[in-house]
Amino acid sequence: MAKPRNTLVILGATGDLTRRLLLPALYRLHTLNLIGDLRIVGYALEQWSHERFERYVHDGLKKFAEDFDAAQWDRFRARLDYRSGELKAEAVGSLKPLLSPGTLFYLALPPSLFGAAADALGEAGFAQAPRGGWRRLVVEKPFGNDLDSAKKLRTQMHAHWKELQILRIDHFLGKETTQNLMVFRFANRFLEPVWNAQHIEQVQITYAETLGVEKRAGYYDHAGALRDMLQNHLMQLFSLAAIEPLSTWDAEVLRDHKVEVLRSVKRFTARTVDKHAVRGQYAAGKVGRRTLRGYREEPGVPADSITETFAALRLEIDNWRWEGVPFYLRSGKRMASNCSEIAVQFKRNPGALPGEVAAEQNWMIFRIKPNQTMTLLANAKIPGLELDGRQVRLTAPYAEDGDSGFSAYEQLLMDALEGDRTHFLRFDEVEWAWRVLDPVLKAWKRGKPEAYAAGSEGPEGQHRLLDADHQWRPVRLVAGEDDA
Ligand code: BG6
Repeated sequence: MAKPRNTLVILGATGDLTRRLLLPALYRLHTLNLIGDLRIVGYALEQWSHERFERYVHDGLKKFAEDFDAAQWDRFRARLDYRSGELKAEAVGSLKPLLSPGTLFYLALPPSLFGAAADALGEAGFAQAPRGGWRRLVVEKPFGNDLDSAKKLRTQMHAHWKELQILRIDHFLGKETTQNLMVFRFANRFLEPVWNAQHIEQVQITYAETLGVEKRAGYYDHAGALRDMLQNHLMQLFSLAAIEPLSTWDAEVLRDHKVEVLRSVKRFTARTVDKHAVRGQYAAGKVGRRTLRGYREEPGVPADSITETFAALRLEIDNWRWEGVPFYLRSGKRMASNCSEIAVQFKRNPGALPGEVAAEQNWMIFRIKPNQTMTLLANAKIPGLELDGRQVRLTAPYAEDGDSGFSAYEQLLMDALEGDRTHFLRFDEVEWAWRVLDPVLKAWKRGKPEAYAAGSEGPEGQHRLLDADHQWRPVRLVAGEDDA
């Protein structure tokens, strides 16, 4: 058999991320004939035989892939290979005969192992591309634990790998809504003139999840909501909502613009943290008839844990476009619903309105979950003899019949194989996000988060971040409004 042109090596091949997300994504791309002759090599500590790995992949796909099909599986399994070993140069050296001219290494590993894995691969000589080929390294999040550790990890990785070879993945950048935010903002002429502090009152970015910590306590109890969701995913949504228009569509220009936003965020100090950041931890609560246990009762969570499962921030940007506009970001586990959105409120209208019309402030809402929609809340006349008005919802799902959507991992794996860095994080994006959050992390080493009932809208304290005339949008879904 001819040697494949490209190989993907997954380090951490027996882990949850690989089974739940990476392999189903690769399988779908395979069924769509999008990955050519790509060879997929699993690497992990477990001393499994080839057959054992195949069985593991097979069972995982049956459980997690959308359309498992026996004939497709037969072709997919021919791509697979497996090697076991530690994250040491000598051990990973066993992968050498399996590498192709184009090889992508995917670190689907606990964050504490990113540095060791990059070193081992580098020392084995794998960062050097053969003539006409390429070598790339995909790194999962979180990149570092705070600013200092992120810088150290960068230095460690740069010992063997160039920045351009490192693809820091943030799966939110592969989400349709995130990419639509860029398209919708810049492809619509009517938006740009009003996308600024003169017309926008506030921006709310909410990512609420009904899920609890599940079986991830080992990771989550060290991370917490601020590191798990805000530092990466929500800061990315925030910077895309706020960036300046690009002169050229280019990965580096886009990333420069995002960094510019992050650099313009007004910094918190130890004294101002409380005005800008709120944390909460879910306690036992009821959803319908089900009683859900509190975070501290979850398996693997210490009974005195002060890890936050909810975090909210108030960010202000010190530039001409956004001066005075608060950006509120929040994310929490075990919330009332899976309601996630970027919601932009426009300012109140000046001047007189006809008759009885009381114009409500407009909202433009980009819904991520439960459905991907865009909604404009606008005012219109109520039919009748009077000149009366009310708010109407103009909602558009942006997938049409026949559109073939891709999951975030499908999208980003394709980008990584093609070498498109647009939707990956450059180190300075990570760095500036940590700069903003470092004072919060320091402050939160003391005290404890406010409890909120599982299944609720989060801690009361979140309201103190808001300006007097602002209110959080409801996390509960309203029947009839969300099924578009
Ligand atoms: C992950 C977080 O990055 O994103 C999880 O680690 C979170 O805690 C998840 O649940 C949310 O993303 P999605 O795409 O699954 O809604």
